[in-house]
Amino acid sequence: MFGKRSEDSAAIQQPAAAPAAPKTSPVSAVELPQATMSPRGPENTSETYYETKATIFNALFETIDVSALASMEPARAREEIRTIVDEIIAIRNVRLSVAEQNQLITEICDDILGYGPLEPLLARDDIADIMVNGAKHVFIEVDGKMEKTSIRFRDNQQLMNICQRIVSQVGRRVDEASPICDARLLDGSRVNVIAPPLAIDGPTLTIRKFKRDKLTLNNLVEFNSISPAGAKVLSIIGACRCNVLISGGTGSGKTTLLNCLTAFIHPDERIITCEDSAELQLQQPHVVRLETRPPNLEGKGKVTMTDLVKNCLRMRPERIIVGEVRGPEAFDLLQAMNTGHDGSMGTLHANSPREALSRMESMITMGGFNLPMKTIREMITGSVDVIVQAARLRDGSRRITKITEVIGMEGDVVVTQDLISYEIEGEDADGKIIGSHKSTGIARPNFWDRARYFNLEKDLAEALDAAGS
Ligand SMILES: Nc1ncnc2c1ncn2[C@@H]1O[C@H](COP(=O)(O)OP(=O)(O)OP(=O)(O)O)[C@@H](O)[C@H]1O
Ligand SMILES: [Mg+2]
Repeated sequence: MFGKRSEDSAAIQQPAAAPAAPKTSPVSAVELPQATMSPRGPENTSETYYETKATIFNALFETIDVSALASMEPARAREEIRTIVDEIIAIRNVRLSVAEQNQLITEICDDILGYGPLEPLLARDDIADIMVNGAKHVFIEVDGKMEKTSIRFRDNQQLMNICQRIVSQVGRRVDEASPICDARLLDGSRVNVIAPPLAIDGPTLTIRKFKRDKLTLNNLVEFNSISPAGAKVLSIIGACRCNVLISGGTGSGKTTLLNCLTAFIHPDERIITCEDSAELQLQQPHVVRLETRPPNLEGKGKVTMTDLVKNCLRMRPERIIVGEVRGPEAFDLLQAMNTGHDGSMGTLHANSPREALSRMESMITMGGFNLPMKTIREMITGSVDVIVQAARLRDGSRRITKITEVIGMEGDVVVTQDLISYEIEGEDADGKIIGSHKSTGIARPNFWDRARYFNLEKDLAEALDAAGS
């Protein structure tokens, strides 16, 4: 009744993992300002620096065939650029130290061959998000905090060119006619571009950096995002095939948490993931990854999340994992959860488990399913076992704030019970929030029988006991 697999209580442990030749002499370049250069970095870039760089850049542009450079092997193209820029600097008599000159050459190479001023940010592992609001405003998120960098693009055109380069890698274009575009960098980072006239102050680029080493539930415990006992409860929820919704605001850690939970799926299970942009990294051997597709330039070929989830059902899945539920696919996911695909999971945007339930309701209603509200609610309560709430608190820290069970219906109302909730107790001298995860005292959750079926009820009892002490 709870899906397959019974003998293996070890599922609770994380399963083993599985050139361009010069056209003319560079001397024809315009007059160069004599600047003291500063290396690219968040603090030390000056106006003169940008002017000097722009002038050398223009001189270079007049000298070489940039499109030929782009088609060369990167190391050779860089060497070519270096030779010509050295020549321009010597002829123009720009005063630079060796380090400054190297810095300038690296930046120019990045501009021509890579993602320009974004390169140093893309190389940093500590950054979660990069947000570019037009050429002059670049923000990053580090350790949960938003910071403005002094990185700038020469102008909106340069920014637009870089956006274009990014989206062309996934066969898309971004321009006035189609100003919104989702794409992915080669390293897997998720990108959104919205261009003028929709973005009033210039092209706006948002990048969610891809983390190769995904956070694990142990990491979340180290970061105090969840207590050790809470983590144990979550691992049992993942292992005993509860249907789970992960709810949270933008950037609250939903996808990360979903990825953590999937670590407790038994390696024998066939899992199908559906995402708008593949972010999940499942360790199991038997995984099929599906991705939605936006329409092509002629507006054709779109494949929606609903299409994918529907198709999944014909692929003999044991679990279906939906990266983000945001539309009518909610209905199909609930149906899948209800019809023998126990242990399916998805994330959605909501600020509390209650709100997550009403979001599910409204996604189904707006999907055009003409069902009475009570039927929709019954469907939700019949399908969803647990809602895990993630939040980014005001100090930038990310916490799991609730583990809530969906129990059933009382009249027209969906009944839920919290198993564990995070309580804020105050703030330390640095403004960091102090709080703790508390058990609500429920010793026998609704999924107790399910845990027992998987031989995990002792672990569950111990974890809930520890969460209460
Ligand atoms: N508990 C945590 N502690 C510290 N950093 C975290 C935690 N959870 C997630 N992060 C980091 O926060 C960033 C956002 O996480 P994630 O992509 O999981 O959020 P999300 O809620 O799925 O965002 P979106 O709404 O944009 O899809 C990532 O860089 C991730 O590594
Ligand atoms: Mg996400």
